[in-house]
Amino acid sequence: MAALGGVRGHSEVRGTVRVPGDKSISHRALMFGALATGRSRVRGLLQSDDVKSTARALRAMGWEMPEVSGAVEVQGGGLRSPRGTARSALDCGNSGTTTRLVAGIAAAQPFASRFVGDASLSRRPMRRVAAPLEAMGARVDFTEGHDGLPMVVHGAALHAVDWTLPVASAQLKSAVLLAALCGGVAARVREPAPTRDHTERMLRALGAGVREEGGWLALEPPAELAPFDIDVPGDPSSAAFLAVLAALADSGSLAITGISLNPHRVGFIDVLRRMGVRVEVHERGEAGGEPIGDLMVHAGVGGGTTIAPAEIPSLVDEIPVLAVLAARASGETVVRGAAELRVKESDRIAAVVGNLRAVGADADELPDGLVVRGGRKPLRGAVTTHGDHRIAMAFAVLGALGDNEIQLDDPGCVSVSYPAFWEDLANARR
Ligand code: S3P
Repeated sequence: MAALGGVRGHSEVRGTVRVPGDKSISHRALMFGALATGRSRVRGLLQSDDVKSTARALRAMGWEMPEVSGAVEVQGGGLRSPRGTARSALDCGNSGTTTRLVAGIAAAQPFASRFVGDASLSRRPMRRVAAPLEAMGARVDFTEGHDGLPMVVHGAALHAVDWTLPVASAQLKSAVLLAALCGGVAARVREPAPTRDHTERMLRALGAGVREEGGWLALEPPAELAPFDIDVPGDPSSAAFLAVLAALADSGSLAITGISLNPHRVGFIDVLRRMGVRVEVHERGEAGGEPIGDLMVHAGVGGGTTIAPAEIPSLVDEIPVLAVLAARASGETVVRGAAELRVKESDRIAAVVGNLRAVGADADELPDGLVVRGGRKPLRGAVTTHGDHRIAMAFAVLGALGDNEIQLDDPGCVSVSYPAFWEDLANARR
């Protein structure tokens, strides 16, 4: 158990934080680097457990992968594995993004790839990614009666597909696009709601034709992928934890610099503002094909808000920390249309509500969301992270403030997405 000593009584934030590289873009930079023809350079790569899982999976499939560090060169091997066989099982650790996106790549390889992962990942639904890959001609095997890993993707010569996603998921969309890219076939994907578009942005930047036509996203696969140079922008999902820390402090302000301002990722800024938090956004141009900029977040939060289903894809990973903010706002906050949270690294609806109650806050589960009623009394108790990095960081923010006293069972799990979290949290707080 780690005891999170808040600065008792008064809490103040100040200074500037540069959060680590974006996790979604880091995964994709390694994948596209492997699939390109020639040598790519990636600066600002996130050095976290999930990104290491992607490097490990690609390596197991025969692509050359550097050790994950802040600046890497990737020697691309082309759209088909240079070794032509998987040397071992693909250990995806805790990473759903690794599993689903690499499954797309595996579907077009002339060999079978066996995907395994930790206990949390093995419980997450994978038939949803198998379905389009099978519609394209691959075969995907599961243990009978089980929807999760282990999963074996038997690659094949693929054919073109039109696929309507059953849920708004950038991971599923990307799996279909990667399968079509590696298989050299056309694909059209329709999403129930727009999700993060990093895959499309990178494909376009590398010379692949991705068009929007009447609600469909259509890929015309290029014969090969050009190598690239990319500066990975800071991760807005990591920034959100520090933004909420600043909002909940008694005084001061915090600058968070160099983050992606991709509109599909920054829904949390609108929510912060609706909850009375003063957030300034300074756009500073582009990096890695993404708009980037700085945030200045000032201490102080007002009332609760309603987060509507249409907003969910733009803040899906931020709901745990927004729920923590809601526990300190006045009035009620309601989140609807977020059933996907039940199949993330943990059941985040149950984990957030259970832990808010465990520390003395007022919250209820809904089948597809949650309700939090804010208050000012000190929050104290033990939090069960379920090994989920975003649950750990959300409650760490709450425990870092005022007279709250919160113990976490697994503070180390932040290494999945934000290894320097504890250091950055301590530096932001005075
Ligand atoms: C991701 C997409 C989201 C998100 C995850 C990263 C990605 O998942 O929750 O952390 O990089 O494509 P879904 O697309 O399944 O909602």
